[in-house]
Amino acid sequence: MSQFVQSIIYENGTVTILDQTRLPEEERYEVIQDLAQAIDAIKQLRVRGAPAISLFGGFVLVQEAFRRTTGPLDAVKQELLTVSAQLLATRPTAVNLRNVLDELNQLIVSATTLAELPKRLEQKAVALYEADAKTSRQIGVHALELFQAGDRLLTICNAGSIATAAYGTALAPFYLAKEQGIPLSVYASETRPLLQGARLTTWELQRAGIDVTLITDNMVAHTIKEKNITAIIVGADRITRNGDTANKIGTFQLALLARAFGIPFYVAAPLSTFDWTSLSGDEIEIEERAATEVTQFAGQVTAPAGVPVFNPAFDVTPHTLITAIITELGVIEHPSVETIEQTLGLNTI
Ligand code: MRU
Repeated sequence: MSQFVQSIIYENGTVTILDQTRLPEEERYEVIQDLAQAIDAIKQLRVRGAPAISLFGGFVLVQEAFRRTTGPLDAVKQELLTVSAQLLATRPTAVNLRNVLDELNQLIVSATTLAELPKRLEQKAVALYEADAKTSRQIGVHALELFQAGDRLLTICNAGSIATAAYGTALAPFYLAKEQGIPLSVYASETRPLLQGARLTTWELQRAGIDVTLITDNMVAHTIKEKNITAIIVGADRITRNGDTANKIGTFQLALLARAFGIPFYVAAPLSTFDWTSLSGDEIEIEERAATEVTQFAGQVTAPAGVPVFNPAFDVTPHTLITAIITELGVIEHPSVETIEQTLGLNTI
């Protein structure tokens, strides 16, 4: 048995997902029948995590292309670009989906025959999926170089294997450490309101035999102090050119705590999480979600009817609070426009 559960499966033109809202009680798979169901799956977080959403979106576009094998080429192209736009409109903060759809949109635009179109899209989407597993593993390799046997890390949300093709981003070093027999332990913050830390991170790490301890979000400062946490590591949904990083709500306060305690704060993310069109985090759109996610807990009402609610799904950590961004190409210390471009050997302007 692979150490990884596949959260997205693509076979012969059909996409299936592991319904992440049912975890940990039930490993239920859902076959995606149509675009409306795919859009709902992203919005309801049945498929979630920035890389996973993008890989899923790519496969849904492929599935839609295989359902349009007759008709005028230009009309089909237009329909598929509309499908792509509908997928992009599902959740605004993570940029990976835009990056993948942009690549697939180029293939749609440049197609010269209808017969070649679905196959070309499929090849690309499968290649991106396979590359993501390798990318995530490389992130783990680079991250592990920053840690020592016995380190105690803290993370939020789920930047794990089920949020990617395999390994995850922030959780990748724990899988690598396990493979190499290096003892590392991780504290998972439960991540209100949707509990990705409690439901998903602990589930996947426990299943892989990795030492994980669950805490609630308000226990973080006390835990850093009492358990001698050595570093914090998180994933990312969008990193702008200066290194400002959007990730699950609560990440910003973890970075502030890391600074207060004098411990490193690491962001682990693939290059597909960079938004080269935005200079700073001020340009990132933060998704706001339904009030009921906050006024209810496990279906029980926990707040008076009509109370105003603010429910942002993400926050932005300024680059000045980030010790390093760990990518598949290496570690970007003290992230800024200059250090990012230098380390990646890119000119993003
Ligand atoms: O709302 P979610 O569960 O999709 O938020 C996910 C996160 O914030 C993750 O940390 C991020 O997408 C990176 S997943 C490798």
